[in-house]
Amino acid sequence: MAEKIQNNGRINGFSKLDKRQRREWLLEKFLPGRTHAEFRHFEAASEDLQQVFDNFSENTVASFPLPFGVAPNFLINGTAYAVPMVTEESSVVAAASSSAKYWLTRGGFRAEVVATEKLGQLHFRWAGHPDRRAALLPELEARLHGATAGITDRMEARGGGVRGITWKHLPNVDPQCYQLLVRFGTGDSMGANFINTVLEAYATELEVWSATSTALHEAERELEVIMAILSNHTPNCVVRAAVSCPIEAMNIPGSGVDAADFVRRFRLAVAIAHEDTHRAVTHNKGIMNGIDAVVLATGNDFRAVESAAHAFAAETGRYRSLSRCRIEDEVFHFELTVPLSLGTVGGLTRLHPLADLALDILGRPGAEELMCIAAATGLAQNFAALRSLVTTGIQQGHMKMHLQNILSSLQASPPERRQTAEFFRGRTVSHHGVRQYLDRLREGGVVG
Ligand code: MEV
Repeated sequence: MAEKIQNNGRINGFSKLDKRQRREWLLEKFLPGRTHAEFRHFEAASEDLQQVFDNFSENTVASFPLPFGVAPNFLINGTAYAVPMVTEESSVVAAASSSAKYWLTRGGFRAEVVATEKLGQLHFRWAGHPDRRAALLPELEARLHGATAGITDRMEARGGGVRGITWKHLPNVDPQCYQLLVRFGTGDSMGANFINTVLEAYATELEVWSATSTALHEAERELEVIMAILSNHTPNCVVRAAVSCPIEAMNIPGSGVDAADFVRRFRLAVAIAHEDTHRAVTHNKGIMNGIDAVVLATGNDFRAVESAAHAFAAETGRYRSLSRCRIEDEVFHFELTVPLSLGTVGGLTRLHPLADLALDILGRPGAEELMCIAAATGLAQNFAALRSLVTTGIQQGHMKMHLQNILSSLQASPPERRQTAEFFRGRTVSHHGVRQYLDRLREGGVVG
């Protein structure tokens, strides 16, 4: 291992190299036999555009394309959407599309934003007594507010801004450890930059306040800021999506089960995910297959959305399914409640041309409308996964795409694809099996 590191060398100033030099270094040290052309292969047609992609991050050596698909026929709150989805996972877009179409004739999706509050935290050590907080907070709040008016003005004009501050004591960390928990509205932007800028300005003002406030006793002036950053836990930035339909209309053609049996099995599947963590994690992963794909397509932060969703799923102290199913008066109800901190202005939504395209496809929604669309897509995805799981099993659908991917990797021609797909209908698909079949086909041998 030490030998390998020595051979590959180390480097100072990698970030100062231009892209060509970075590639050269990689080719020389790590990629014998490979060429510049492999890096250039996926470059944007125009240099300007490639520059835009390169500038999103540091040390870029290439762009990494992912499929941008569209799931049409999504009826959400009475509006028909073609939902843009970016995902590498086979069957996800097909499943969302098929679920959207299923619900199109059953009233579509209803979605409502429950709340849109975001949070930020400023942690500090302070020598004062915790009981003094109530008396000091109004003055502190006014000082923080005044010191950041220049930053918050424009956001306030757009309906956002700081909505309130709670001063918490964290004695389990340290008897002198405190937190300002700040509630924000960020309008149509995701708001991370805004929140962090405000919090850092708060940190500076907090120190000024501790040094200058006449409300403080001398012994209370000792204050040390630890850190200031938004919280990705957004339990008050939440959207709910739902579908419902009389059980008698819940037929699943080709599944071999009748509507009542399907609904019974479906409800059990959701109940299992509510009860059992192992299943809940997989169940919620299926929901995130849909949500993440919309989040990525629209240039939003999927890591933030993921961590918030899973914290929310564990809010009762036990990790549970994010969706719920109930039967009332012979009507099937299926709903998803999930925190989604999304933006439709600012950040990558403006800079990435494909995020811009995705938002155009959606008719330039505001953040709340995008929350509804993403939640409905998550619910659709969850419905599609459970529908397969409790009827035919998941592999039937997956295997079709899996087979196509294997055929692509083996450079199969269209006639070879058709013949191989025909052969594997109803048979188990494996890379080895497909290769063997294709070899025989190409040798002109007997196949079938
Ligand atoms: C696969 O990406 C997602 C599923 O496992 C979700 C689920 O099991 O509900 C099919």
